[in-house]
Amino acid sequence: MSGPDEPAVPNASESPAGLAVADLAAAQEQGLAGFEAATTLDALAAARTGHLGDRSPLARARKAIGSLPGPQKADAGKRVNAVAGALQAVYDRRRGELERERDERVLVEEAVDVTVVPSRPLGGRHPLTTLSERVVDVFVAMGWELAEGPELEHEWFNFDALNFLPDHPARQMQDTLFVEPEGSGLLLRTHTSPVQVRSMLDRRPPIHVVCPGRVYRADALDATHSPVFAQVEGLCIDEGITMAHLRGTLDHLASALFDEGSGEGLTTRIRPNYFPFTEPSAEIDLQCFACRGASAVEGAEPCRVCSSEGWIEWGGCGMVNPAVLVAGGIDPERYSGFAFGMGLDRALMFRHGITDIRDFYEGDQRFTLALGREA
Ligand code: DAH
Repeated sequence: MSGPDEPAVPNASESPAGLAVADLAAAQEQGLAGFEAATTLDALAAARTGHLGDRSPLARARKAIGSLPGPQKADAGKRVNAVAGALQAVYDRRRGELERERDERVLVEEAVDVTVVPSRPLGGRHPLTTLSERVVDVFVAMGWELAEGPELEHEWFNFDALNFLPDHPARQMQDTLFVEPEGSGLLLRTHTSPVQVRSMLDRRPPIHVVCPGRVYRADALDATHSPVFAQVEGLCIDEGITMAHLRGTLDHLASALFDEGSGEGLTTRIRPNYFPFTEPSAEIDLQCFACRGASAVEGAEPCRVCSSEGWIEWGGCGMVNPAVLVAGGIDPERYSGFAFGMGLDRALMFRHGITDIRDFYEGDQRFTLALGREA
């Protein structure tokens, strides 16, 4: 029996269930052991429910305080709180430890080794894409705009608006891939020139557009012909535009694309030709970038790139035919313009000594990788 000044130290025989010293000590000991033994956050949460939760021995002991005689309540409450505090402290520490362990594990397990070389083969950008972007860059640097049009085109844009007469041979089935149903007027565009017409109808002068894209012809596939190939078109319309502007622009393009920093100013030459959409019209030749024309002189070293011609055929050009300006909604009395169009495949073939145009369209990654970076 305790005296009046001594704290009540109840024992099992006189305390309600769970409040006896031994019971509380057991609850504390088991709780601490449970928390220490938990090796995962889930196990720790389960242990918390068992030792600190609503149905834990400690919770039952706390409830039992109510049935104690008044003077014993405060003391019992202190002892229950002491156990609860001790358990909570260990729980908190253990939780901190397990969270740190988890974070460290996640860092290791989810780490990405950026130095690993992928085991699948790397792709490369297609050399025609790279060259087309280089051409566009040359013009964008001069303030021109990129313009694109559909590959499935209407014959009005591809032929009529470009001043092809109804009986022009290009309109025959053997040259052009028409699209069914017959009479729909749809075809696969045979050149990038229809983008000129679309650009005129979309804009007001001054107009400066560069138009790269794929074009189609009813050609059988062989080493030098492909039914699909790549072109780039240019169109400039303003007041007072002359053929001198055209020459200057072509020379600049040739030098920017093929000079390789030599600063020698690779040049172009133009020869009379006929296109329905330009008047006058001309053929553009590119000075051979390998021999720079030297091989054409008698007795000189032969050149394999240009077959000792000194020049490489590059495309067509001319002053926009007034009939085309009218189709594009532009007043030919006030404005004039020049246009040019050239094949990209040919330029690349010369540049890299490629003898078979099919290499561009067969999708062999070794070809793409070898040329993609330097096109
Ligand atoms: N469209 C022509 C072709 O595919 C090339 C061409 C010639 C484009 C003269 C032009 C041009 O813009 O003015 O053969």
